[in-house]
Amino acid sequence: MNGSRALHLAAWLLFCVFCSAAVAKKESCETCRQLVDRFHKGLEDTRKKNFGGGNTAWEEKTLSKYESSEIRLVEIIENLCDSTDFECNHMVEEHEEQIEKWWFKMKKKYPDLLKWFCIETIKVCCPPGTYGPDCLACLGGSERPCHNNGFCTGDGTRIGDGSCQCKAEYTGQFCLECADGYYSSERNDTHSTCTACNQACQTCNGPSNEDCKECKNGWLKDGGKCVDLNECASEESPCKDNQYCLNTEGSFLCKGCDKSCISCSGEGPENCKDCATGYVLLDGICIDVDECDASENICVRENETCLNTAGSYKCICSEGFEDKDGNCVKVMETEGEMGTSESDINILETAHEDL
Ligand SMILES: *[C@@H]1O[C@H](CO)[C@@H](O)[C@H](O)[C@H]1NC(C)=O
Ligand SMILES: *[C@@H]1O[C@H](CO)[C@@H](O)[C@H](O)[C@H]1NC(C)=O
Repeated sequence: MNGSRALHLAAWLLFCVFCSAAVAKKESCETCRQLVDRFHKGLEDTRKKNFGGGNTAWEEKTLSKYESSEIRLVEIIENLCDSTDFECNHMVEEHEEQIEKWWFKMKKKYPDLLKWFCIETIKVCCPPGTYGPDCLACLGGSERPCHNNGFCTGDGTRIGDGSCQCKAEYTGQFCLECADGYYSSERNDTHSTCTACNQACQTCNGPSNEDCKECKNGWLKDGGKCVDLNECASEESPCKDNQYCLNTEGSFLCKGCDKSCISCSGEGPENCKDCATGYVLLDGICIDVDECDASENICVRENETCLNTAGSYKCICSEGFEDKDGNCVKVMETEGEMGTSESDINILETAHEDL
C-alpha cells in the first residue's frame, strides 16, 4: 500500500463515516470510468518514457520490457486518483490486485479495461444501453435506448430503472409519441421523429399554420388557419394610459409615450392624444411651453433668472450670484490653494456689507 494514499484514505474515512452506500453506488461507475480514463492517460504519459526514441537494439529490448513492467504499472497507478478523491483512492485500494491481474495476465485477451474491470470484474458499470444490478436492456432496447429520443435512467450503470426521460419533442413511455407543440414527421415501429409546429399552433398535425389543432395564445382561428390576433385593435387598450400598444406576432408590447404626451397612439410627440402639463398642441405636435416668455415675471427674487426646461421652468440665481439661505448673493471667490490674498478678503467684506 502506498503510504500517502493510505494517509489520505484514513483522513477521508474519519471524515466520511456516514457516507451513504446508495449514493456511492452511482458514483462507483462514474469513479470507475474516470479511473480508466486516467489509466489510459497514464499509459500515454509513460509511453517510451525515459527513452530518446532511438532504435538501437538495446533500446528496443529494454523498451519492450518496460512496456509491460511492474515499474510502469506502479507509475500509472500512482497517478490514477487525485489525492482528495476518496472514492477513487478507495476503489484503487480495494481492487489493486485485479488491476495487477489485468496488467500482467489479461490485457492481451481483454484490451478493453473499462469492460473488463468496471463492467465484468468489479461490476459497478453496465454495457451501454443497459442498466441496473443485472444490466438489463433499457426501454426501446440496448441498441437504441428510448428509440434515441430520450435518456435511459441508469444507462451504463448498476443503478436506475431503465425508464425513459424523453427529450422535449417526445413523450410516452418509449419516447415515440410527439409532445404538445410537435408533430410526427416520420414514424414506423422503431423510429419516430417529431418536429416543431408552426409558431401559430399550440398543437398541430403538420408544419404550417393551416395544420394547427389548437391555436397558441395570441393567435386566432380564421378560415382554417391560425392568424395573429391584433391585441392593440381591441376597444380597450391592454396598455396603461401613458403607453401605446404595439402589435407583434402572437403578442403585443406596451411602450411608453413621449414625455410631451399624457396619452398617445404611437411613438414621439407627433402621436400624442393629450399633451402633458407644460406642453401645448401646435400643428398636431405637443411642444414645450416657454414659461419664461410670459409677460409677467415668474421668478421674483432679486438677481434671479428664469430658465425654461422641457415641460417646466426653473428660477435660478443670475450669473455671478449664488443661492444662500434662499437669497441670490454675489458669488464669493473661493480661497486659492496659496492662501487668502488681501483682495479676496476685500471682496469677502464687501459682500458681507451688502447683506
Ligand atoms: C424506420 O425508419 C427508419 C428511418 O426513417 C429506417 O432507417 C428504418 O429502416 C425503418 N424501419 C422499418 C421497420 O421500416
Ligand atoms: C442685483 O445685484 C446688483 C449688484 O450686483 C444690484 O445692483 C442690483 O440691484 C440687484 N438687483 C437686481 C434686481 O438686479
